Amino acid sequence: PSTSPLDLVIFGGAGDLSVRKLLPALFMAHLHNNLPAQTRIHALGRQPWDRADFLAFIEDKVPGFIDAKARTEAAWQGFLDRLNYVSLDATQAADFTALGEALQAGSDRVYYLATAPSLFTAICEHLAGASLIDARSRVVLEKPLGHDLASAREINDQVGRHFQESQIFRIDHYLGKETVQNLMVLRFGNTIFEPLWRSPYIKSVQITVAESVGVGSRAGFYDGTGALRDMVQNHLLQLLCIVAMEPPVSLDPDAVRDEKLKVLRSLRPMTVADVARDTVRGQYSAGASNGDKAIGYLQEENVPSGSTTETFVALRAHINNWRWANVPIFLRTGKRMAERRSEIVIEFADLPYTIFPDAPRQPVNRLMIRLQPEEHVQLQMMAKEPGSGMRLRPVNLNLDLELAFSERRAEAYERLLMDVIKGRLTHFMRRDELEAAWTWVEPILDGWKQLHEKPKAYTAGTWGPAASSALMAREGSAWVEES
Ligand code: BG6
Repeated sequence: PSTSPLDLVIFGGAGDLSVRKLLPALFMAHLHNNLPAQTRIHALGRQPWDRADFLAFIEDKVPGFIDAKARTEAAWQGFLDRLNYVSLDATQAADFTALGEALQAGSDRVYYLATAPSLFTAICEHLAGASLIDARSRVVLEKPLGHDLASAREINDQVGRHFQESQIFRIDHYLGKETVQNLMVLRFGNTIFEPLWRSPYIKSVQITVAESVGVGSRAGFYDGTGALRDMVQNHLLQLLCIVAMEPPVSLDPDAVRDEKLKVLRSLRPMTVADVARDTVRGQYSAGASNGDKAIGYLQEENVPSGSTTETFVALRAHINNWRWANVPIFLRTGKRMAERRSEIVIEFADLPYTIFPDAPRQPVNRLMIRLQPEEHVQLQMMAKEPGSGMRLRPVNLNLDLELAFSERRAEAYERLLMDVIKGRLTHFMRRDELEAAWTWVEPILDGWKQLHEKPKAYTAGTWGPAASSALMAREGSAWVEES
């Protein structure tokens, strides 16, 4: 490990992500003594502030995103001591000279690009122009990394002119979630699941990332993006990769990413006919959320009238390889759904034959992995109902991970930032992975354009349009929606 000082430089340092996620995560890392001793955090922004102005801003905004019980005054002051602010216009080369002067001599540098990707090129060029990049420097790229394959390639090319692939950390915060990392252990740290983890023992896979929130104040970004680009292209496909990949030979970053890439490349490309049959686009209309009235997407602030942006997607995918042949993979995500829930459900095969006359016609064994808000793994089994006769009823074996472990669970961003500091790339996306994900997603976007259909309305606070259930029913499956 490096003993050099560390300079952590956040472009977009006074922005939303920095305030809500990055600075709180860095505070927690500081509180637990996980930051290298000589760490300075430089927030960069266009505001013409000095350090005192920035600290006042931080004092006002950031504590709301930190667990009040965790925050001690001493730790908070210690954290503020590490903070610096540099007023910088990313398009002005001269401003980078001032940045260079603020950095510590001989330091390791981490550049976190939490800005619109349209600034990435200028930032990298000017960092290089001011000689602020060396072989130890790292760059972290926030999503959205492109809006299609060509723009993703363009970003990768531009950043790649100044940083080697081993210096580039493309962040997908889902890969930093404890339960997502635990999926690898569930699969490859146990012996009982893997032999069954394939066709024909698995009948279907479903992955849900449902949110109860609406688009909120983010319509400016979201309306040009939609749920497919915002969630499926990255988070859901990454989850799918971990569920579907072959065992990597080790935890070495490339060993893991090679296997994930193979999954992405095995996804069956969708034709326009597939898109028409196997995808559902939805948009929420007025309804209720957590007991309160909720407005529809079209009434949200800054949504252009008549917008046809999707806030919900459900689709059926196929992986063309030996393990997954003929196993439908269902993905769905949406805003303003019935509840916040991220869950993976592995539905095992039907009984080949039943000797129980009263057996209910329903899925027999399901492995349900709840990623959030609760963290648990449930295995649905059939058991005998007490009493005379031989009546069957599904019951769950329940592993509550929050009860099983009393240790502190770090937030995704904290874990990923520590990985960046330590130079660990396993939980970050490699260039070819990102591009393979876009290669599969792009025909869906094109298909939608050609089909020219409006998104189907669904009432806020429900599980999405009826067509989403119909998609499942066609395969003899159903979304798991009970609690
Ligand atoms: C982000 C999306 O990547 O993930 C947001 O841009 C979404 O639209 C968020 O709300 C969900 O993350 P989490 O961690 O709250 O599930």
